[in-house]
Amino acid sequence: MLKDQVAIITGASRGIGQAIAYEFAKHGTKLVLSASSLENLKDSEKLIQGLGNVSYILTQANASVGDEVSEVVKKALDTYGKVDILVNNAGTTKDNLLALMPEKDWDDVLSTNLKSAFLFTKACIKAMVKQRSGNIINISSVVGITGNAGQTNYAASKAAINALTKSIAKEVAKRNIRVNAIAPGFIKTRMTDKLPADLQEKIKTQIPLGRFGEPKDIAEVAVFLASDAARYITGQVVIVDGGMVM
Ligand SMILES: NC(=O)c1ccc[n+]([C@@H]2O[C@H](COP(=O)([O-])OP(=O)(O)OC[C@H]3O[C@@H](n4cnc5c(N)ncnc54)[C@H](O)[C@@H]3O)[C@@H](O)[C@H]2O)c1
Repeated sequence: MLKDQVAIITGASRGIGQAIAYEFAKHGTKLVLSASSLENLKDSEKLIQGLGNVSYILTQANASVGDEVSEVVKKALDTYGKVDILVNNAGTTKDNLLALMPEKDWDDVLSTNLKSAFLFTKACIKAMVKQRSGNIINISSVVGITGNAGQTNYAASKAAINALTKSIAKEVAKRNIRVNAIAPGFIKTRMTDKLPADLQEKIKTQIPLGRFGEPKDIAEVAVFLASDAARYITGQVVIVDGGMVM
């Protein structure tokens, strides 16, 4: 069912976004990979080319700039004539105690993590409504549910992503468009590599399954949510965290 569907994936250059692109490519999905620079997409391109016979285009956009986002969606529609799946994955952290957090770091994190999902969803939704089908998957975080000291900006952006997910799910359910979020726990990517080793070890002790997640653990859930097997699921935040939050 995912074969020949068209998926836009933001932040597709590495980490979770790259793994999502790879899993969809394995199912024969046509890919519109988006990143802040085309150069950054080289690794992901090599990876999906290794599968052979994958149809894809590479696009560049700062995910928090409206005109650039519109261009990506236009390119997808010009190339493939439709958009079936949108994965809002681009994200960033700029951690600090609130009292020390520069206003710019607040704005940057909210723009990259939240405004980007608004912009990409808005740019895709008309085409999905017209098609009378669509699937939107927002990559949130468990800290959007629990909060986290040192991450007021990031946690607020992810809590807002959860609210955005439920609100747009209610708006478009009648048009056969499903909208869900995935809330990962601690996944091994460049985002978490930068945390101090002792903090990483402390976090590991709080994970009942006893290991950090791999990007593939998230990617396979994204494929499930986009598939017909999830046809009765919308407006949900699916926690994928080895049991850290329960
Ligand atoms: N790694 C984790 O433990 C974890 C946990 C919870 C949620 N997440 C979420 O998963 C998503 C992917 O994160 P990751 O762990 O793969 O991190 P990562 O840093 O490896 O990847 C982030 C991606 O977003 C892109 N990006 C950042 N700012 C952008 C912008 N302005 N425009 C376009 N692209 C931009 C980066 O280029 C990169 O491709 C993020 O939304 C993150 O918040 C990650």
